[in-house]
This record gives sequence, structure tokens and C-alpha cells, in this order.
Amino acid sequence: MERGTFSSKVGIVLATAGSAVGLGNVWRFPYMAGENGGAAFFLLYIGCIMILGIPGMVSEFIIGRHAQANAASAYDKLSNGWPWRYVGYLGILTSIIILGFYAVVAGWCLQYFFASIAGHLKGDTAYVKDYFTSFSSDPVKPIVWGIVFILLTHFTVVKGVRAGIERASKRLMPILLVLLIVLMVASCLLPGALAGVKFLLLPDFSKVTGKVFLEALGQAFFSLSLGTACLCTYASYFSKDTHLLRSAGQIALLDTMTAILSGLIIFPAAASVGVRPDSGPSLIFITLPNIFQQAFSFAPVVGYVFSIMFYALLVFAAFTSTISMHEIGTAFFTEKLNHSRHRSAWVVTIAASLLCIFCALSVGACPDIQLLDLPLLAFCDMLTANFMLPLGGMLTCLYVGWYVPSKLVRDEFTNQGTLRGRYFAIYLFAVRYVCPICIVLIFLHQLGVL
Ligand code: TRP
Repeated sequence: MERGTFSSKVGIVLATAGSAVGLGNVWRFPYMAGENGGAAFFLLYIGCIMILGIPGMVSEFIIGRHAQANAASAYDKLSNGWPWRYVGYLGILTSIIILGFYAVVAGWCLQYFFASIAGHLKGDTAYVKDYFTSFSSDPVKPIVWGIVFILLTHFTVVKGVRAGIERASKRLMPILLVLLIVLMVASCLLPGALAGVKFLLLPDFSKVTGKVFLEALGQAFFSLSLGTACLCTYASYFSKDTHLLRSAGQIALLDTMTAILSGLIIFPAAASVGVRPDSGPSLIFITLPNIFQQAFSFAPVVGYVFSIMFYALLVFAAFTSTISMHEIGTAFFTEKLNHSRHRSAWVVTIAASLLCIFCALSVGACPDIQLLDLPLLAFCDMLTANFMLPLGGMLTCLYVGWYVPSKLVRDEFTNQGTLRGRYFAIYLFAVRYVCPICIVLIFLHQLGVL
């Protein structure tokens, strides 16, 4: 069967950045930074992106582009009978779990998008809080929106790599950037916004604990889509002359910029109306809906338009990311089990939808659906971001750094010697020593051993 590929360099960067830029940047990053000390968390996060994220991304790119195959086959290809394919399986499992809980939040965004158009989000703080509680605890609505989101993803993914994934990313990513910039400018111009900007940019290191390290690491991996073979699957659609290190740098930069821009939308607006930014996962659903409206009370239409733009931004960002999570499983079932793309996509859609139902109920109608004292949704988030992704990323680095012959790694890194590969030695050092050791230390610290 003919494999799909992305059609151009722009397509490659936009599709991969589309995967990276998502609710991780606009929903997860602001509340994580809000809970973990703002700028201090932000600096750790940037450190993790530079030192662990970029080498990790390049490693997944190398495996995927070399193998030109789905996640499991790609890890298997150079394994000489060693069970490295389980790293691919782990990635496929992780991505389906992420899709399941992510779709719940994406579904909330869809609901809020339509509610803001219909003008239902107008009211004081108590009203908006009540709106969220009554919507999220409805036994049906959040499930329906979550599954609608997965189905939208499904019907884009089955169209294939170019007509589905690449086309959606090329259309949505530019709109997304414009929305981010417009909202950021509007938010920073509000009276009293400076306190919010300071919160994001002036570090308070007294908040930094071992837990904050792990959270920053998890956030960096989650935000770059790293550790689930997602980047490996996308890289299998790259062309042979794609500059892997440069692409990784560009994508990491776009991703980090989006996180900063989101922070500069949310914290200044929150500061302007005197809201504390540490209210956790519901931050953008409870604290934000009426922020624009309050902040622009002198021009209600502007507040109305900005809140629609904000939720549109969330929906688009989430969509290009759910596409990538879905594609990992779809590519695997298509190639490994020889099913049609349609059929394979249904396997992923059904598995993720089932999880989505339980996750949605766990934060609404059935709060008893808990694991380790956390609602299922928060448990899946914590399990994947703080454990499965760093574990997948670490195994990937060990595989590329120690197991795959370094001549082959070098050939991929330099596009068969056509690039100078100036940074190859640094890269290899990072994947061999720095990444695995840092991740193990952070794990040990979390377990209380260090
Ligand atoms: N990076 C995306 C975000 O920031 C989420 C995401 C998409 C993801 N694909 C992934 C996370 C694969 C981990 C693995 O929202």
C-alpha cells in the first residue's frame, strides 16, 4: 500500500506544530503555571524544552523517518529481535488514553464556543461558576460534545495525510496565530494588566519543589507531543531532505511562543479583574468566561467578540492536536493489522470514546469514578503526562542513543551526509546521558528516594 507523505516543508512544520500546539498550551500551561508559581515554573519548563525536549523530538523524528512506518513497526525495525516495539505499543496506548480525556476538555471548549455565540456566558462570577458546574455535571451533554469532537477528528483523519491532516493544519494554524496575537494585545492593554504580566515573567523560586520539577517536565513533554511516538508517526510522512534538528527547533519555538502568548492573554486579563490564576483545570472555564466581558464593560460588543475568539482559538488548537493523537493508532492498525484506514480509525474512535464517557462522568455526574483519590480525568492526565510520556521519551532516547548504530543515527541526522551535522555530538551526548539521567532523577525524586 502507498504511504502518505506531507507535501511541503511548510506542511511538515504546520502539521507537526499543529500537533504540539493545543490545549496543553492554552488550557494546561496557564493553570499549571498558576498553581506552581508562575515565572519559576515557566523557567523550568523552558529548561526542559531545551535540554530534554528538542533532543527527544529529534530522536522520534529519526526513528520515524528512517522506518517510514507506524509507531510499533518503526521501533521494531532496528531492534534485531529485542522487544523495542513495546515502546511503540506504549506510545499507542498512551495516545489513546490522552485522546480520551483530552476530548472531554475539547468538548467543553466546543460547548463554550457555541454558548459564547449565543450570549449565554454573560453574568457575574457566581453565575459563570454555576454555569460550569451545571453543564459539567449534566450526565449527557459533556459526553455528547466530547464524542462529537472525536468524530470530527475521525472524519478528518480518514481523509489521509495530505487531504486530512495537512490541509486542516494549514488552514487552522495561521488563524490560530492571528487570534492569539489579537487577544494578547487586547488583554495586555487592560487596566491593571501589568500584575499578570509580572506573574508570568518574574520568578518566585520559593514555590519550586520536587513536584514542580516533575510537573514542568510533564508539561514540556505533553506540550511537544513527546513520548508517545506521535512525532515518530508524523516523521514517517516527512521527506528525506527535511532538516530534522531545524524542524524540531522551529516547532519547539512555535509551541513555546504559543504558551507565552496564552499566558499573556490569561494572566493580565485575570489580574485586571482581580482574579487569582491558581484555580486549577477549570481556570479557563470558570474564571475566564466573564473576564473579557468585565474587562470590556465599556464596550460590550468587543467583550462579546473576544470571548467568541477565545473559545474558537481553543477549539482549533485542540483539533489539530486530537488529529495527531488519533493518527498514531490509526496508522498502527492500518499497517500492522492490514485493515482499511476507515476501519482502523473506528477502532481508535470507539476506544477513545469509551474512555471519554467515563472521564466526562468522573468530573461531573459520577464523582465516584476515581483512581488514587483523583477523578478519572485528572488521573489519566497525571498518569500520562507525569509518567507515561517521560518514560516513553526516556526509552526513546536510550534506544537511539545506545541501541541504534550511531552511524545510522548520524546519517539520518545529517540527511545522509548532505548536512554538516555541527550539533551531532551535542545531540548524541544529550540523548545518551543528559535526557535519561535527568528523567530518572526526577522520577526518583518524585518517589521520595532522592
Ligand atoms: N501537544 C498537544 C498539546 O499541547 C497534545 C498532544 C497532541 C499530545 N498529541 C500528543 C500529547 C501526543 C502527548 C502525546 O495540547
